[in-house]
Amino acid sequence: MAALFTLSVTLSLLLGDGLNDSPDLVSSQSPIKRTSTATDLFKGKRQGHRSSALTLTASELLKKTSHTIIDNIGNTPLIHLKKLSAHYGVEIYGKAEYLNPGGSVKDRAALNLIKSANLESGQVVTEGTGGNTGVGLSMVASALGFRCYLCMPDNVSVEKQLTMKSYGAEIELCSTKFGKEDDGHYTSRAEKVARERGGVYVNQFLNEENFKAHYEGTGVELLEQFEEIEVELGGFACGAGTGGTIAGVGRRLKEVQEEVGVCLVDFKGSGLRSYLTTGKFKSEDEGSTSAEGVGISRLTKNFEKGRESVDGVVKVTDEEAVATALWLAQNEGVWIGPSAGGNVIGAVKYALYLKARGRESNVCTILCDGGASYMSKMYNKEWRDKNGLEGVEAKLPKVCGRFEKKADEKIFKGHVGGG
Ligand SMILES: Cc1ncc(COP(=O)(O)O)c(C=O)c1O
Repeated sequence: MAALFTLSVTLSLLLGDGLNDSPDLVSSQSPIKRTSTATDLFKGKRQGHRSSALTLTASELLKKTSHTIIDNIGNTPLIHLKKLSAHYGVEIYGKAEYLNPGGSVKDRAALNLIKSANLESGQVVTEGTGGNTGVGLSMVASALGFRCYLCMPDNVSVEKQLTMKSYGAEIELCSTKFGKEDDGHYTSRAEKVARERGGVYVNQFLNEENFKAHYEGTGVELLEQFEEIEVELGGFACGAGTGGTIAGVGRRLKEVQEEVGVCLVDFKGSGLRSYLTTGKFKSEDEGSTSAEGVGISRLTKNFEKGRESVDGVVKVTDEEAVATALWLAQNEGVWIGPSAGGNVIGAVKYALYLKARGRESNVCTILCDGGASYMSKMYNKEWRDKNGLEGVEAKLPKVCGRFEKKADEKIFKGHVGGG
């Protein structure tokens, strides 16, 4: 009963009245607004600013930690998605990044970004984020006694916005109508705020510490985990937002086991499939994915670091991603977000492709983040109905026939994209 009460309170907070209780949550109608305490934040005068940060830099503080929350980033479990695997006749594994302390794969990048920023006392971490990097940064910053100012698109889930604020970050919502080159784009805003007000812009797209988190962490862990369970890894498939994950993991896998295939999972509206197959960025779909954090329409430094490792690309639809995530929640006890749902169904497609060619078809993917961040979005039928996902239910998509017919053969041609 108590649990039911808690759940209904939580839901009403997330879906209804609770939003009005949040005074500085900026409306999506107003593209650029910031919270009223921003000036204090940049002066390092906010209450609760820990004294340790006033005397030590972030890297010095990090040397001193053990058994803290940030020491628990990484070393995530490997999950065999047994029922899904049985359904498709291939073996699919997910690296459970949603079990990181901040709830996503981006905790790893966030830790490295703060480490490399060499923050001095009172400095504010500033970043443009699709949401999860912001959550990771605000968690790490809180643990080390720093503060964050985070700019993000105004369609980032309310749950993530509230999480960042709970960790003490200040957030600025930027309209999705702005393109990358516009002043109002969330990355431009973060850069400008840092420049004008003395913050440190950590830039997850450019900063190779993001790639390194996966090259030195996730990729190595994966290899060890497959060795431990004595399963031969045939392929790795995942999507890209900054490209840090696929580039870091992909490059590490190729260096150690060249025969392991690496496949990009590309989402609606992303230009990466076109880039990898033709050398030019071009979105092949109308609109963009409703999955947060994935899809790129330009070459990022972090993706570039592992581009040569990518052997192929497979496209997934939002319907496939969401249906798969809903099914996994109800059938495997694995509650994940839409990009992770897309990764899983992308991994299935890639495994079927490998199997049809007599190759090892055990494929691993990344379970980027958890379902709790999307209670008001994909786990809410009303939201699905209003966002082009009406009729999508917890049912595994039909994908088997496509590879038997080799319909997608032309997109898997070795090192796609060339020089
Ligand atoms: C939910 C989610 N999935 C996937 C990604 C993509 O990860 P990467 O930036 O390493 O490409 C992100 C990135 O923010 C994300 O938030």
